[in-house]
Amino acid sequence: MMQKFHSEPLNQYRFLVTGGAGFIGSHLVEYLLQHGAKEVVVLDNLATGFKKNITLFNSYPSLNFVDGDIRDASTCQKVCEGIDFVLHQAALGSVPRSINDPQTTNEVNISGFLNMLVAARDQKVKRFVYAASSSTYGDSMELPKREEVIGKPLSPYAITKYVNELYAGVFASTYGTNCIGLRYFNVFGPRQDPKGAYAAVIPLFIQSLIENRSPFINGDGLQTRDFTYIENAVQANIKAVFARPEANSKVYNVAVGDRTSLKSMFETLQKVSGKQVPAIHREGRAGDIKDSLADITLAAQMLGYEPGVRIGEGLKRTFEWFFDQQQFIKA
Ligand SMILES: NC(=O)c1ccc[n+]([C@@H]2O[C@H](COP(=O)([O-])OP(=O)(O)OC[C@H]3O[C@@H](n4cnc5c(N)ncnc54)[C@H](O)[C@@H]3O)[C@@H](O)[C@H]2O)c1
Repeated sequence: MMQKFHSEPLNQYRFLVTGGAGFIGSHLVEYLLQHGAKEVVVLDNLATGFKKNITLFNSYPSLNFVDGDIRDASTCQKVCEGIDFVLHQAALGSVPRSINDPQTTNEVNISGFLNMLVAARDQKVKRFVYAASSSTYGDSMELPKREEVIGKPLSPYAITKYVNELYAGVFASTYGTNCIGLRYFNVFGPRQDPKGAYAAVIPLFIQSLIENRSPFINGDGLQTRDFTYIENAVQANIKAVFARPEANSKVYNVAVGDRTSLKSMFETLQKVSGKQVPAIHREGRAGDIKDSLADITLAAQMLGYEPGVRIGEGLKRTFEWFFDQQQFIKA
């Protein structure tokens, strides 16, 4: 069971987690159910998420799964009825996906987001906490990244995530909708999908090591990221839900404040796995930034966010989870 990050009893509140069948969303669902939320509604069209991430929690009668699309405005209205807090995670992630298909990314991430925001406003939810992204920093060279200094977007995906922030800001000032954006920095952990063309780097590396295959490192491997273990992202969401009113209408970096190169992350995984399979270097990718590191002072001050799991421990827990899954499938 995850550590407790709230002090109010959850049994008086109904939550909606969009994208709850996905990686981050399913951990939010798990936390809310384990801590006794009155109801947890999940809206997900299973585009990149999995039914099994929900059926895991079927023993909780307070869970209610809706197979639906955020591009449908009436679905968004329906699922927001009676909801106290929205945790909006549904989106099409991945920079390369957005480069290959900017229109679908735009429809889901912008039109879908707007549908959810309108529904949250109309149904008078108490707070709308949404997944923003470190990709909003774009070509800004400043390190560490502070929320108020952003550059030009480097991909269609980055545009969509920035537009989300702009819409949330305008809804807050125009309609008084209480919104909080969380700019996630490379979140990783159990249940992150290791398969497909758009998989994230950590599950890809882990899966390769488990299968004794060499993973690809794009570029020289010296690019750095502020890798964030999932439990820290859950903490940020729960603290955002219950943060004081002054925390509204802002976006916050959600990271650890540690800078790790891809190469060194892979070396840690080699140690954790006990395997010396080497990586293969290939060309760098379009739309990728060279370095990323967050300043998490604002989230600490306004949300009381305090990341508890650093990368080494996070990689160990994640590897163990993937390894156990593999044993389970074999058995
Ligand atoms: N994982 C990261 O490092 C990271 C970093 C920055 C931002 N984010 C954002 O966090 C959120 C969650 O990301 P994730 O890593 O869990 O990805 P994920 O792909 O595992 O989860 C996204 C979920 O949204 C669902 N979804 C997609 N389109 C939908 C639609 N039209 N209607 C309803 N549901 C839909 C998918 O089926 C999936 O379950 C996304 O908004 C993503 O952009 C993630």
